[in-house]
Amino acid sequence: MNRPPKPHRSGARPPKFSPEKIPGHIAVVMDGNGRWAQERGLPRTAGHEAGEAALFDLVEGAIEIGVQELSAYAFSTENWRRSPDEVKFLMGFNRDVIRRRRDEMNELGVKVRWVGRPKRLWKSVIKELEIAEELTQTNQVLTLNMCVNYGGRAEIVDAATALAHAVQLGEVSPAEVNEKLFQSYLDEPTMRDVDLFLRSSGEMRTSNFLPWQSVYAEFVFMDVLWPDVDRRVLWRAVEEYGRRDRRFGKA
Ligand code: FPP
Repeated sequence: MNRPPKPHRSGARPPKFSPEKIPGHIAVVMDGNGRWAQERGLPRTAGHEAGEAALFDLVEGAIEIGVQELSAYAFSTENWRRSPDEVKFLMGFNRDVIRRRRDEMNELGVKVRWVGRPKRLWKSVIKELEIAEELTQTNQVLTLNMCVNYGGRAEIVDAATALAHAVQLGEVSPAEVNEKLFQSYLDEPTMRDVDLFLRSSGEMRTSNFLPWQSVYAEFVFMDVLWPDVDRRVLWRAVEEYGRRDRRFGKA
């Protein structure tokens, strides 16, 4: 039996949304940790630490309104370019967060999935992700895609490579290749298209996050640094999403 999410500490309750105005899949770029820390005279790593609570508050707030899938950009294939100290911190931090949050995610009925490349990723991080995936595999309340060592172009190139091999082996003929078949070679073929793409900190970039899945996403850029984000910010973004006119190419 899953436990319901705990209400936000302010006592705030979600606005009433009509079901068709709830995004099925929300992608979040958790940006602004470094600036949050800098404003307080703290090391950048303190900003990342403060960002943990924001992510897990969003998970509970997403469950409260019936979101099915949430994807969090926890470490990108480009983040290896950061200082060795920050990379080391982010690796250890991801490992520890996954370990300390997995039981809570399981109690809430959250299915945790790792999306990303194994190459270069610390073995200990992969191990924690795999344990969390196994523990939560049958959960159905919400799917949380932890995108760790994820890059959108890398995902597409890996899919193209696997497909090229399949063609070379005669398993697939080039004439059969269409969007549906191509998608089946992506990291998570069952991932829904992104409905709402969120980024904190006021920056307006997608930074290589879920390009294939976001072609018809609505973008909302939140003017709040990531550690200051909570579920109330998410609900405001969903209200904004509800006001958008989604046409998917139709007139
Ligand atoms: C961006 O802030 C954030 C990242 C590089 C990804 C890491 C995200 C977290 C650690 C948040 C919580 C994650 C988990 C797994 C709970 P930044 O360093 O780019 O900030 P800046 O743009 O202000 O420098």
